[in-house]
Amino acid sequence: MLKFTIDASRCIQCAACVDDCPAGIIRLQDNVPYIPEKLESRCIHCQHCLAVCPAGALSILGKDPDHSDPVAPPDPQAMASRIRSRRSVRSYSPDPVPAQELDQLLATLAYAPTGRNERQVRLTVVDDPVVMESIRQQTMAGIRMATARGTIPDHLSFLSRMLDPFDAGRDIIFRHAPHMLIASAPDKGATPWADVFISLSYFELMAQSMGLGTLWCGYAMWALRDVVPELLAKLGVPGDHQAMYVMLFGYPAVSYARTVQRSPRSVHRVRPEDVSIQMGQDK
Ligand SMILES: Cc1cc2nc3c(=O)[nH]c(=O)nc-3n(C[C@H](O)[C@H](O)[C@H](O)COP(=O)(O)O)c2cc1C
Repeated sequence: MLKFTIDASRCIQCAACVDDCPAGIIRLQDNVPYIPEKLESRCIHCQHCLAVCPAGALSILGKDPDHSDPVAPPDPQAMASRIRSRRSVRSYSPDPVPAQELDQLLATLAYAPTGRNERQVRLTVVDDPVVMESIRQQTMAGIRMATARGTIPDHLSFLSRMLDPFDAGRDIIFRHAPHMLIASAPDKGATPWADVFISLSYFELMAQSMGLGTLWCGYAMWALRDVVPELLAKLGVPGDHQAMYVMLFGYPAVSYARTVQRSPRSVHRVRPEDVSIQMGQDK
């Protein structure tokens, strides 16, 4: 049941919902939108119909349009500055992030896009630094054991080289971060890897705008997934979530005074002649 309803006193019969529906399932009857029952299963629950309605006349999935936020795009300069100032933080204060702040941060992730709007990304959060310390110790113990047994896969041999620094008090894998977020998605989803990366990208930008530091952590991902999978399972990451990535976070113990200076990415502009379009001529 989609609970698709129209407040006839508000509807201006503009059909914007019909035009914007990605599944193309909204029809008009006497100029009033409706979804035929037999098409309901094609709805991807994106709520574009509710979002696009200029009059706030449309409700779907039981959502009251008056409970949506007005659309207020951020200043592009501020957005560009946020993106340019984002840094990988490898040095953290041990202080935990307050639960309320973390909840606020995680709540925004519901707005990250996912392929086919499947929204199956699972967020496994370590919010207790004591738990984080235990994960750190168990991971390093697992790497130590696998190194001694010679079972570390060749392509992950670099993990063994992190044992000596760890014993000397330097945690190159988890960077002594007080928190960790694992985003994972089921293998059978439409776009699991993309969904995971997008979620963490949103998390990273939002977290850094709140004064937190973050680090994409391939080392932790490989260690957890390929060396201590039993620990990963204990953390609650389902076995069929091969698409997964780890992000460390917490208050930074380093601050950056300026942005780095990146040369532009390689951009290839496709020209009309590349695809044999003869501009200004009839086909
Ligand atoms: C997918 C991914 C995995 C990464 N894994 C690690 C990691 O395991 N350890 C680490 O110190 N940095 C890791 N990084 C951080 C990169 O080294 C960093 O983004 C790069 O040096 C550029 O620095 P910046 O993020 O401050 O611009 C990773 C980055 C990405 C995008």
